[in-house]
Amino acid sequence: MKKYLKISILIFSLFTIFFFVQNKYNKKTSLVFQENNSKKYVALTFDDGPHPKYTDMLLDGLKERNVKATFFVIGKNAQNNYNVLKRMIDEGHIIGNHTYSHKNLFLLKEKQILKEIDQTNQIIEAVSLKPVKYFRPSYGNYNAKIINLAQMEVVLWNVDSLDWKIRNSNRITRKVVSKVQNGSIILMHDIYKTSVKAAFKIIDELQKEGYEFVTIDKLLETSVEE
Ligand code: NI
Repeated sequence: MKKYLKISILIFSLFTIFFFVQNKYNKKTSLVFQENNSKKYVALTFDDGPHPKYTDMLLDGLKERNVKATFFVIGKNAQNNYNVLKRMIDEGHIIGNHTYSHKNLFLLKEKQILKEIDQTNQIIEAVSLKPVKYFRPSYGNYNAKIINLAQMEVVLWNVDSLDWKIRNSNRITRKVVSKVQNGSIILMHDIYKTSVKAAFKIIDELQKEGYEFVTIDKLLETSVEE
């Protein structure tokens, strides 16, 4: 009788372990399946603001669509449009540093470069209460010296909307939508009305194609995992 009980317990335990392992395995495979097949991520980044009128307009539309974006602000503009900067942060967008006065950093001395970066971080951090993580140098100009001075993560882009030049929302939209892939970082500027209108069209079209709009930190995190 005792021996019979022991065997029963053993069989029961093996059965439980088998089910547990199989269940775990199934869960894991379905998760991988979802990640690879149905999730497409894209990040919208807006440079050179905040603008007193168009950034607010943009924030309204992003809120309506439940989209979070990344803003690389110019320190001077952030200082002059403090309420807009605060709204960006309050509404969950990520703020990066785009220098204080948008100078070409290649032409500046080390001390001046540091000032361009530090001043901007101070303005953002006074509102966000946390360190600024991302830096996008003006004109995308950077080298080892600038990276070393900034001590921040440099984030560029891989889809250029050329919105500053095109100034037609339909044409900007077509340009961006035709180039976007999973993991794209789109460069736009929230200082033109046509860019804001284009951003809404881009979001609406890409969401229909199954894209999810995420901030830079989420996109970079996802890229590392893959
Ligand atoms: Ni810029």
